[in-house]
Amino acid sequence: MGDGQIPLKHLPPSLHQSILRSSIGLGLFAILTVGLISVTWVMTREKIQTQVRAYEARALMEILPAGTYDNVLVDAKIQLQPARLLSSSEQREAYVALDDGEVSAVILPVTAPDGYSGRIELLVGINRNGTLAGVRAITHKETPGLGDKINTNVSDWILSFAGKSLGNPDAEGWAVQKDGGDFDQFTGATITPRAVVAAVYRALQYFEENRNILLDPLRMNSEESRYDG
Ligand SMILES: Cc1cc2nc3c(=O)[nH]c(=O)nc-3n(C[C@H](O)[C@H](O)[C@H](O)COP(=O)(O)O)c2cc1C
Repeated sequence: MGDGQIPLKHLPPSLHQSILRSSIGLGLFAILTVGLISVTWVMTREKIQTQVRAYEARALMEILPAGTYDNVLVDAKIQLQPARLLSSSEQREAYVALDDGEVSAVILPVTAPDGYSGRIELLVGINRNGTLAGVRAITHKETPGLGDKINTNVSDWILSFAGKSLGNPDAEGWAVQKDGGDFDQFTGATITPRAVVAAVYRALQYFEENRNILLDPLRMNSEESRYDG
């Protein structure tokens, strides 16, 4: 205290109390702010999760229109083990469509890890015969006006997968036109469609490798698919 500072205990009582009151006030304000931010974060996260689930349910209905199966699709989930071809590092849920006791299609959760702005989460519907029933982007952070053309409310691009399969087009065709393949890219935005085309192709490979297990109706909620590595 040789530099002219007065020790706290030597301050006049009123000033001492005022500093104490301010400190307590600031402390309470900080606690309140942290509490408010935490509550907002939890509420926002729950809201986003609810929206994603609603979006996913709508996408399921679009990929497999009602009447093409006779079970309750949103309730018909099976657990998939982590799989390199789906770019999943943890267990995920797939949906199984049944028709007269037979699996008529599966809808796989697939990640395209290499979008322009990171992961693009997709639902890929594959019919029993290996043709694509449809693909929808569920969540992504691609740029509005460029990469967001994978959304059906922005463009029809993602609808072009329906009917395609591992052999149609052939392996070289499973790329954007800029890379010598069959699929359109977006003007000035090739990264997003390239990532989606590659992810859908891997999903078809996964289906092919796990076909017997995925198409086994007895497997519903009883077993898990083979580990794909
Ligand atoms: C701000 C900004 C945002 C971009 N967003 C995307 C995107 O969402 N998807 C994408 O494929 N490319 C996006 N691009 C363009 C890519 O950087 C890259 O140039 C393009 O994908 C390559 O496509 P091209 O080979 O057709 O030019 C963005 C570029 C900038 C500067």
